[in-house]
Amino acid sequence: MTAKLELRQIIKVFGSHPDEAVRLIEQGYSKTEVQERTGLNVGLAGVSASFQAGQISCVMGLSGSGKSTLVRHINRLIDPTKGEVRLDDVNILHYSLSELRQLRRERMSMVFQGFALLPHLNVLENVALGLKVRQEPKAIQGQRAKEWVDKVGLAGYEQHYPDELSGGMRQRVGLARALATDSEILLMDEAFSALDPLIKQEMQDQLIELQHKLNKTIVFVTHDINEALKLGQHIVILKDGCVEQAGSPQAIQDSPINDYVAHFLPKK
Ligand SMILES: Nc1ncnc2c1ncn2[C@@H]1O[C@H](COP(=O)(O)OP(=O)(O)OP(=O)(O)O)[C@@H](O)[C@H]1O
Ligand SMILES: [Mg+2]
Repeated sequence: MTAKLELRQIIKVFGSHPDEAVRLIEQGYSKTEVQERTGLNVGLAGVSASFQAGQISCVMGLSGSGKSTLVRHINRLIDPTKGEVRLDDVNILHYSLSELRQLRRERMSMVFQGFALLPHLNVLENVALGLKVRQEPKAIQGQRAKEWVDKVGLAGYEQHYPDELSGGMRQRVGLARALATDSEILLMDEAFSALDPLIKQEMQDQLIELQHKLNKTIVFVTHDINEALKLGQHIVILKDGCVEQAGSPQAIQDSPINDYVAHFLPKK
């Protein structure tokens, strides 16, 4: 089966003159060693991962392991130093600027870690943003934005501005904005991390229920293993910019590849 999305041997070194760092990574030096030797930050040290259509895949790992860097390669907010990003078996690094714009506008949407709301737009306008960029008719923008504001439990807050909302509420606005565009691929970076435990559970349940209807390809970043096990049909565990283990929640729980992975898992 061809994956919907595939990362092939992605190396991401931040900073100029990355050649030496790439060479060291390819020789098998760890992220820390490469950083010590070159002074450059390594985001990903040779990551391959695939994400199937219609599934929720979770990317999981500690802070700094490379989760946001990985997910940002998928819509090319970050370009790799080396490697390929494939969508429907096409390397999207070859896309022209207009193809890339179209991809971001029509096929992918993202819920950002830290929300990325526009402070001068109210809730309804923030939710409608993706539809506006896509130049949907005004009436549709308003109607669909309102639907999603209601669905994420923010009815009554349409005219409020981001600085009048709690962190959890802002996160919901970000979620509604991404879902309102109805794009086939959803990238969610710590989308529920800022929420209280109960609301977080509620949002997870809502996402699962929505996914039954919508069948999107979702890449969901989290540092919470329980969240990954609950939401994901596929889990990719990152450590120091490398994939430590990838597989179904069952496979990972049944046979963690090493103590590092085992340590994450809920105690039986
Ligand atoms: N723009 C950047 N410039 C330099 N280094 C960066 C940049 N973005 C990320 N990094 C480095 O890449 C590594 C991975 O960062 P990333 O943000 O992907 O981690 P993360 O797993 O998302 O962490 P968190 O859970 O804290 O969000 C870190 O070592 C970080 O310092
Ligand atoms: Mg992150």
